[in-house]
Amino acid sequence: MTGNAATGRLSILGMGPGDPELMTIKAARILRESPVVAWFCRHDRPGHARQIAGDMLPERAKTLRFAYPFTTEIPVSDPAYLVRMATFYDECAEHIAGHLQNGQDVTLLCEGDPFLFGSAMYVFDRLHERFACTVVPGITAMGGCWSTARQPMVHGDDVLCVIPGTLDEATLTTWLERADAAVIMKLGRNLEKVRTALRHAGREERAIYVERATQPQQCWMKLTDMTGPAPYFSIILVPGREDAR
Ligand SMILES: C[S@@+](CC[C@H](N)C(=O)[O-])C[C@H]1O[C@@H](n2cnc3c(N)ncnc32)[C@H](O)[C@@H]1O
Repeated sequence: MTGNAATGRLSILGMGPGDPELMTIKAARILRESPVVAWFCRHDRPGHARQIAGDMLPERAKTLRFAYPFTTEIPVSDPAYLVRMATFYDECAEHIAGHLQNGQDVTLLCEGDPFLFGSAMYVFDRLHERFACTVVPGITAMGGCWSTARQPMVHGDDVLCVIPGTLDEATLTTWLERADAAVIMKLGRNLEKVRTALRHAGREERAIYVERATQPQQCWMKLTDMTGPAPYFSIILVPGREDAR
């Protein structure tokens, strides 16, 4: 879809892991020129992607803040989750489509890279055949995390596995046994289950916990030194082969 002059263009911007300096020059340019800027967020939070944008958001831009109807209240495995989220994304996409149909460009902000566990994908799926669409890649959270922790991850023919912590313990263990290196995302309340799976897979000792990478509050440590709850913005890194000199 290349679009036509009468309709607006949807730009989906990867905003990087948190440090605004890790946004691409292209994302920053499009953001500064945007008449309408949208983002997703928890109902009680401003939104990570919006915070990264900071004062780069044009003062006169119309803003569309899409607050999720729920976050952890309904488990992903519950069929109601998919139905209610699909309705929510339908409504968000139609809201954006209204602006595009009026000839206004719309920019949708997304933390990290938009096509890696990003909500923006659900808008893209619904609109990219109807409107011109640009996707600007972003530095992923995992890239931010391993750079912050100064932890090389994959050498040579190591296989990296990116695993959502929302999986059940047995599935997590299977993937962790199989992968040379692994990144486990979406920790939060899944932390203890992930810890158990790492132990069963014999990978707990090498695992590194990273929280809010590239942001002022960032911290990282060996997982075995980590106590207490994990916030949503945290990742576990399991490096592949050790120092490859
Ligand atoms: C919905 S996914 C979004 C991933 C994002 N699109 C990307 O490209 O990395 C959210 C998960 O990313 C991870 N995450 C995002 N930002 C992070 C950060 N600054 N530090 C640690 N983990 C982060 C957490 O695991 C969080 O649960």
